[in-house]
Amino acid sequence: MIFNEPSPLETKVISQRWTLPNPESVETYLANDGYVAIKKALEMTPEAIIDELKTSSLRGRGGAGFPTGMKWSFVPRNSGKPAYIICNSDESEPGTCKDRLLMENDPHQLIEGMLIAGWTVKSNKGYVFIRGEYRYLIDIVDRAIAEAYERGYLGKNILGSGWDFDLYTHTGAGAYECGEESALLESLEGKRGIPRLKPPFPAVVGAFQSPTILNNCETFSAVPVILRNGGAWYASLGTPKNGGTRLLCVSGHVNKPGVYELPLGFPLQRLLDEVCGGMRNGKKMKALIPGGSSSPVLTAAECEGLLLDYDSIAKAKSMAGSGGIVVLDEDTDIVAVALRTIKFYAHESCGWCIPCREGTTWLKKILTRFHEGYGKESDIPLIAELADNMFGRTFCALGDAAAMPTTGFITKFRGEFEEYLKKAPRDIATSVPELVGIH
Ligand SMILES: Cc1cc2nc3c(=O)[nH]c(=O)nc-3n(C[C@H](O)[C@H](O)[C@H](O)COP(=O)(O)O)c2cc1C
Repeated sequence: MIFNEPSPLETKVISQRWTLPNPESVETYLANDGYVAIKKALEMTPEAIIDELKTSSLRGRGGAGFPTGMKWSFVPRNSGKPAYIICNSDESEPGTCKDRLLMENDPHQLIEGMLIAGWTVKSNKGYVFIRGEYRYLIDIVDRAIAEAYERGYLGKNILGSGWDFDLYTHTGAGAYECGEESALLESLEGKRGIPRLKPPFPAVVGAFQSPTILNNCETFSAVPVILRNGGAWYASLGTPKNGGTRLLCVSGHVNKPGVYELPLGFPLQRLLDEVCGGMRNGKKMKALIPGGSSSPVLTAAECEGLLLDYDSIAKAKSMAGSGGIVVLDEDTDIVAVALRTIKFYAHESCGWCIPCREGTTWLKKILTRFHEGYGKESDIPLIAELADNMFGRTFCALGDAAAMPTTGFITKFRGEFEEYLKKAPRDIATSVPELVGIH
């Protein structure tokens, strides 16, 4: 299934098979370039594979945008311990809904990407960690894994190479925190999903205290096409240091929300006007969240001329994150959006670090009061101070992920918060919309 009609402006690289009949089957995959890259990889040295990835400028699609080739190069190959390959398909960042489409419509592409990672670091075992709410996907991925075993792409002596690789699905229980890589590893090991102290990073001490390649589902899915067509080809699709294409999940007040595959560096305005059919009801845009709910909001003025790649969005003081773009029109109540956002983080804070546990809870309380019309002038600097006190003070970045958007809303739309002080207290029951930006 796909969410939306594809756009003719898309560059379909990792989503190219989504519209074929039975896109999830091994037959479709094999008839359309499937399992060609692993054959090629098996003839290559680990160094050559990593070099190809470095040349491709592929950066992690899970949030931080770390260069994938470099990450793989950190995995020690003589540690005397087994190495693991873990796919992060927890996909819990509000606004992001692409990994589910990759697993639903092209699970073999993901399996092949993980296989290539496995061969590169001589791992014999991998896990696809799937968000708990995506139960229906577990069947699809399990079926694809079974097909891959039947065809000799998984299991013993893969394609006569003498190398064995087993792959399993593993489900989370619906916690945002379990998408954070170290909490994911705790959860995978059967423990409570709380973050680990880093360093050491998972590449060196990951699953079961062993070296681990841990990447997002979209990152792994891009690996087969990079090996097939070459890193230079992939890099040329994007901008310098921002290679290839990515899946942009557009929600909110546009005419055609959906998941679109576009080259890195694609102009935001063209995405909104030409791919997404413009703003809904002819309204003006007030603000845009560029990379999932943890990325700081951009005003309409800040969006002017913006290119959609990691470095350009960072220059605009936000984050390309996980590719979840939420478009907010001129009628949007920013205080309500700030409250809805912090409600999510307060609910999802795992409670391990005090600044995050207490900070998100207090921000929720103050923003709730504020939104109901009981705000005080001193609340505005208090909200900003609370967010500031959370930033950089936690084991994982969930605290930052809650602080950054809050700071963004209150500094860039301070006038709207001040206007709220003039409003009469309102009935609690008429509170906040349940979903930010989703129409
Ligand atoms: C609170 C929190 C939640 C996260 N959730 C996800 C997630 O659902 N999926 C994901 O791939 N990365 C998520 N990340 C990022 C991962 O920790 C990690 O950076 C990523 O999986 C690495 O893969 P990549 O290099 O391919 O992006 C999250 C990070 C934090 C701090």
